[in-house]
Amino acid sequence: MFAQDNSRRWRRWTMAAVLTVVAIAAIPVGCVAVTYTRAPVSTIGGVDFTHRLAIPTLDTGTVDAEGVRVFGLEMRSGRTQFRPGTWTETWGFNGDHLGPTLRARRGERVRVEVDNRLGETSSVHWHGMHLPAVMDGGPHQAIAAGGRWTPTWTVDQPAATLWYHPHPHGTTESHVRRGLAGMFFLDDDTSDALSLPHAYGVDDVPVVVQDVSLRGNRLDGTHRMFRDVGFLGEQILVNGTLAPFHEVGDELVRLRLLNASTARRYDFGFSDDRDFALIGTDSGLLSRPASLSRLALSPGERAEIVVRMRPGERTVLRSTPRTDGLDFWNRRFSGGDDGFDILELRAADALRPSPELPAVLAPTTTPDGAAAVRERHFTLELSGINGRAMDMGRIDFAVTRRTEEIWEVRNTDGMPHNFHVHDVRFAVLSVDGAPPPPALSGPKDTVYVAPGRTVRLALRFDGPADPTTPYMYHCHLLWHEDTAMMGQFVVVEPGQDAATHIPHGH
Ligand code: C2O
Ligand code: CU
Ligand code: CU
Repeated sequence: MFAQDNSRRWRRWTMAAVLTVVAIAAIPVGCVAVTYTRAPVSTIGGVDFTHRLAIPTLDTGTVDAEGVRVFGLEMRSGRTQFRPGTWTETWGFNGDHLGPTLRARRGERVRVEVDNRLGETSSVHWHGMHLPAVMDGGPHQAIAAGGRWTPTWTVDQPAATLWYHPHPHGTTESHVRRGLAGMFFLDDDTSDALSLPHAYGVDDVPVVVQDVSLRGNRLDGTHRMFRDVGFLGEQILVNGTLAPFHEVGDELVRLRLLNASTARRYDFGFSDDRDFALIGTDSGLLSRPASLSRLALSPGERAEIVVRMRPGERTVLRSTPRTDGLDFWNRRFSGGDDGFDILELRAADALRPSPELPAVLAPTTTPDGAAAVRERHFTLELSGINGRAMDMGRIDFAVTRRTEEIWEVRNTDGMPHNFHVHDVRFAVLSVDGAPPPPALSGPKDTVYVAPGRTVRLALRFDGPADPTTPYMYHCHLLWHEDTAMMGQFVVVEPGQDAATHIPHGH
């Protein structure tokens, strides 16, 4: 009798204890489930395109007595009305938000007078520009608050759509996210001779895409739970315009797409799935146009596309969810399940005729790897590249001037990364052993590397040699770059020694 009672009571206690433990354990599981369910953002079909697309000022500088093309950039804070009646604190170059489109030609000497009026240290990096390391604007060319920096160099590379943005050590994400970014167009004889749309802001349109989170009077930068990629916003600005439309007056319109977001990758296409022509990648024109209906760009990457419009029609540049290379967790928390309506193109009822796209664009000028003198391997992990976190005082390796190398870059992490190299234009030789798709067939300086994937790149280092001033290579998810995922290389003359350690005072 007693024994039976006791064992029944014991069983009840055990049951109660088990249920309590299960209930407590369910709380975090429930929280994760709710976070997971609420994570995706979609504005597809839900955007009223009510704002005319802003076109950044085209700035061709002034040519001084020595023939140098001189630009001025002032970094400052200000405020911007993204929505009528609401002011948001922003940063910009020569204005409250973003910066002018600078434009120069191959062969020209240029100088930029950069004034930092931000109240904190920053820098300005010329992303995609081939130039001496001391002019590069990376973390070693810091500009103190109130300071001026005047880099000068000769443009010596083919026509391309480059951009500029701050690169201060450890705070690049926040400086870019607040609005410090602008485009830098380069022209050359080849691009001039091609019958491509080229009326700036009319049929040749800069499209600077950034995701933002508008909270009160500021651009919020909070990294939400499980977003190992960094900041992800839930609205899109194009050239600083929310919900933009652009009126098209020509049969062909060229869009110069720049992903200036800090972490978000886009899979661009149009709402009616129309085809478009890809004519250029990061650092120059393709050898011939490629017809595509979708094109992914990770942070820092650019693409030039040409879209054919019919009179009176409308279509929407859109980014759709994507699957490539991510597991369900990373896909969701890196924005892979998100979708955005980005820019509406509105064709006029009568369109000016455009010449047919040229069948041949520009000769290939990136190396093919055949003459490579060495091969290097890079593994990408959030904790660092090749297992080492960025160190301003450490030179990771030296490359020899006027030689070619093959770099094999592998993402050994579960999360998305990309890989950007300063100073050089590279060719993507393969992705997981297969020839690159058309979107990676042109000259590149930044490439997406999905988890588990390997890309092989061919690079040529033309210098000039500078054994003590490094160029950077890094993940262009800017929080990853700020955290650890960056390294430094120098270019040396044959037989010259490189410094292994450098002073890194500011
Ligand atoms: Cu656009 Cu090192 O960066
Ligand atoms: Cu760069
Ligand atoms: Cu990364």
